[in-house]
Amino acid sequence: ESIYVGVDLGGTAIKVGICNENGQLLHTYEGPTETDKGVDVVIGNIEKYVRHIVEESPYEWDQLKGVGAGVAGFTNVRDGIIVLAPNIGFRDVPIRALLENRIGKPVKIDNDANVAALGEAWAGAGKGIENCVCYTLGTGVGGGIIINGKIYQGSSGMAGEIGHISVVPDLEAIQCGCGKMGCLETVSSATGIIRMAKDAVERGDRTSLALEDHIAAKEVFDAAKAGDEVALRIVNRAAFYLGKSMAAVAAVLNPELFIIGGGVSKAGDFLFEEMRRVYAKLAPEPLQKGVYIVPAVLGNDAGIVGAAGLLLRS
Ligand code: BGC
Ligand code: NA
Ligand code: ZN
Repeated sequence: ESIYVGVDLGGTAIKVGICNENGQLLHTYEGPTETDKGVDVVIGNIEKYVRHIVEESPYEWDQLKGVGAGVAGFTNVRDGIIVLAPNIGFRDVPIRALLENRIGKPVKIDNDANVAALGEAWAGAGKGIENCVCYTLGTGVGGGIIINGKIYQGSSGMAGEIGHISVVPDLEAIQCGCGKMGCLETVSSATGIIRMAKDAVERGDRTSLALEDHIAAKEVFDAAKAGDEVALRIVNRAAFYLGKSMAAVAAVLNPELFIIGGGVSKAGDFLFEEMRRVYAKLAPEPLQKGVYIVPAVLGNDAGIVGAAGLLLRS
């Protein structure tokens, strides 16, 4: 039996998992990224965790056919390079070559949201669906496009950076981590939601949210659920721009399914209801029939499964 290891390289943790050729996740392991220690240590950590998980498993090193990695940032998939990953502190890192040298197995890399999309299309909410778009709502807003069952890469492997579509009108737009103004990520990521909550508190809006307790996105959702109007307005704003971006994405790609994952997707039904309402309002009617906006089902494992899938399905 062949095995594949998927790696989810994030800013704080590196998650690894062993998959079989059907996309079944057999084992997982997780350790710190240690971005503050620099590129060599991070790459060394990936190697360490990959070796560790295979050693601890009932499988032999010879059964490992390759390693796939999803990275939170702009990736040049063809050349195996992380072009820009602010949360990991990487710029122009030839991660594929570095890992192949250390591990001695074929390595494939891709963007974190692209691999989450592949994971969901392979073994999750998009199983059996050929054309879908996946959003990951976390620290940033990621996007992954699956066309005919495969990740759509674009000309240099950077397609699907949905979080950097500029959707917020000029007067309300703020600068994004990418340097540009009004990106979806500035309003619909956990970071954006927290910022809007802090702004509201500082402005003196009537809300149960309070600055002292270092507001987290989850607290904003909980307050919204409990009827706090300021919190609800913030979550609705995040959902509004997501729905608006989906109408634009649908006009270009006509997918069957939008799959929404990441921590923010757990905000609750009202997030989904608002996204669906805005999508129905803004997407031309012919683009609405048979299009569904659904939660991801693999949760935090989508990235690992999809990363392993890079070796089989890309
Ligand atoms: C990055 C994407 C990434 C997303 C989610 C964005 O800021 O530009 O590459 O997929 O965050 O991690
Ligand atoms: Na992407
Ligand atoms: Zn941006």
